[in-house]
Amino acid sequence: MSNIVVQPVQNQAIIRATEIAERLDLPLVAQVDAGQQFVLEVSVERLAIRDRRQVRTRPVQVVCSNFRRPSRGRDLLARAIGRTNKTVIDATAGFGRDAFHLASLDRRVIGIERSPVLAELLIAALNQSAAEALRKSIRFICADSRVAIEKLPRPDVIYLDPMFPQRTINSATARKEATLLRGLVGDDPDADELWNLACIHARQRVVVKRSRYAPAIGRVPDLRVSGKAVRYDIYLRSER
Ligand SMILES: C[S@@+](CC[C@H](N)C(=O)[O-])C[C@H]1O[C@@H](n2cnc3c(N)ncnc32)[C@H](O)[C@@H]1O
Repeated sequence: MSNIVVQPVQNQAIIRATEIAERLDLPLVAQVDAGQQFVLEVSVERLAIRDRRQVRTRPVQVVCSNFRRPSRGRDLLARAIGRTNKTVIDATAGFGRDAFHLASLDRRVIGIERSPVLAELLIAALNQSAAEALRKSIRFICADSRVAIEKLPRPDVIYLDPMFPQRTINSATARKEATLLRGLVGDDPDADELWNLACIHARQRVVVKRSRYAPAIGRVPDLRVSGKAVRYDIYLRSER
């Protein structure tokens, strides 16, 4: 029995839910059974994922418009990506927060996510976004980045935010989302392999997001941008 099911939450959403269930090869249900942990809830306006093991928790949806840009200089991700680097592959797109953040910084972003359920959430959110500029600057692909990045034009930056290791998360909402994500996609034991490929394929730099005190992936980074909870490890490439 699949532990992910698709459920229309309005009568008007039955056709949309049926299409999504077929595309993802997941069961379409009217009622959710006890053994089914994750529910992809489909309405006409939105798509959201619910983890039934986390009671009293709202379903998570990808939101592309609520990014609040920190003041200049305090935006650690912007500093890590670099001012002059314009094209980014986010090879671990997840819920797309970092990809949308980068797009809001006027970068052209290709987000790659290998979980078909997450990719569906990302693509639906982007298609439904009212912000045309955002739709022009981001594209999401459902694929394994270890295969996909070699087929894409080389970007200035490849950005990685793999699941491993357990990270310190301060906000309760973010912690719940992280628990859901881990339950849905598991760890990323192939992060080293992805980092190696990224180092070959990026033109200017590879940026890896880590918990503040987690060990680096691969070798010691050339640069670091550190905040209270996370840091960005930067590996410089000389494209030339
Ligand atoms: C910690 S989450 C990323 C969160 C994301 N930075 C955000 O802002 O929402 C890691 C994600 O990377 C994805 N991932 C890991 N390795 C991947 C690979 N080789 N190809 C595609 N996606 C991958 C996982 O499925 C997971 O959804």
